[in-house]
Amino acid sequence: MTQPDIDDLLEFLRFPSVSTQSEHAPDMAACASWLQQKFRTAGLEASVLPTGGHPAVVARTPHDPAKRTVLIYGHYDVQPPDPLDQWVTPPFEPAIRDGRIYARGSTDNKGQILAHLLGVGRTLAAGRPLPVNVVFLVEGEEEIGSHHLESFLETHRSILACDVIVISDTGMAAHAHPTLTYALRGITALEFTLTGPSQDLHSGVFGGAVTNPATAVARLLATLHDASGRVAIPGFLDDVRPLPEWERQAAATLPVTDEQIRTLTGVPQLAGEPGFTAIERIGSRPTVEVNGIGGGYQGEGTKTVLPRSAFAKLTMRLVPDQDPEKIQHLVAAHLQAHCPAGVEIQITPGHSGEPYFMDPNSPDGLAARRALKRVFGREPALMREGGSIPIVNTFKKILGADSLLLALASPDCCAHSPNENFPLENFEAGIRLNQAVLEELGR
Ligand code: BES
Ligand code: MN
Repeated sequence: MTQPDIDDLLEFLRFPSVSTQSEHAPDMAACASWLQQKFRTAGLEASVLPTGGHPAVVARTPHDPAKRTVLIYGHYDVQPPDPLDQWVTPPFEPAIRDGRIYARGSTDNKGQILAHLLGVGRTLAAGRPLPVNVVFLVEGEEEIGSHHLESFLETHRSILACDVIVISDTGMAAHAHPTLTYALRGITALEFTLTGPSQDLHSGVFGGAVTNPATAVARLLATLHDASGRVAIPGFLDDVRPLPEWERQAAATLPVTDEQIRTLTGVPQLAGEPGFTAIERIGSRPTVEVNGIGGGYQGEGTKTVLPRSAFAKLTMRLVPDQDPEKIQHLVAAHLQAHCPAGVEIQITPGHSGEPYFMDPNSPDGLAARRALKRVFGREPALMREGGSIPIVNTFKKILGADSLLLALASPDCCAHSPNENFPLENFEAGIRLNQAVLEELGR
């Protein structure tokens, strides 16, 4: 890897491209035009296109009808960097320590998508023809559910037409261990607010005589799982496929143990649905997670208040063949049915994305595995990812193409967390992986 490659990544990481915060809209636009320029420098034709939300960057090589076409997808938006006080160096001032680059977005997804851009650039700069036609789609709304991208795909169907899709936006099973991700969980989000009194009350004057909305939120959340950790919403698990033997085997041979996951997370003890290993719970089972909970006094010291309302934010992670819309309704019905007396519930649905599953033994799946083996020198692990990339199943539906998920994030990358990082060796491996996978797919 050259110093200019590293400098490119440093520049890319300095844009605070936080898609969920409207104050960052100008940073999103600036980041998109920076990318457009990088694609042009690499020798591709590139444009920044409106989506109705944050813009998308599309770049392409000249189309040769005799070659297959590979779409490479990634995202330039990032999650909010908070809690800021837990970063060793500021999230948008990238710093290199012990061979890793630390910054928000370093692994998710700027380092990984830039590796592909530089891979194509490296091939072209060497004067070698690309073995396939390449189209890049780098969007700015992945971290908020990609909800404008579906109609964007419809509108730009012809320029995005492809035989197969390559994505590096998932995690490796272990450090330096090549990994083909063959499934992603889907997601559906909602938040609810419970409202009781017409305004905050003195907790001594009225406490005991009215339902406390914060207590009601806690009671309601406690109905979502049984004591063993299994989701207790009626119908929630109905469409979940049982795990076939080959998948249980693949999971059992992954270079990641329950104890390693315990250490990685720092918890005193793992928890979850009985009958599954941690990696199976993460990749193959659906969950209901509380992402946020609030209400009442949050400031310094005490305040004897009975809050007027309290809320919780939930996401459900889904596996094939669960349908986000159906799950959204089941969860809402469950919350309504269990809402404690004395408060009113208001439910606001959020974004959704479908789960994804592809056959790792398909011809393109095998090509991806050969490329991973060439670059990392060993047979790749086959793994289901617990995270979501909401547009991937939509790609399948609209473009008719499978996505090959070639992991470059390290297990301790701290995606969405403080001190997110990307090993420079993965950056370099990613550049070579791009070259290898395009060759294998072009055969
Ligand atoms: N790249 C991640 C998914 C991921 C994270 C895979 C870590 C492997 C390791 C992706 O950017 C992501 O975070 N997606 C969101 C989507 C959601 C906000 C709709 C997710 O999974 O929470
Ligand atoms: Mn992410």
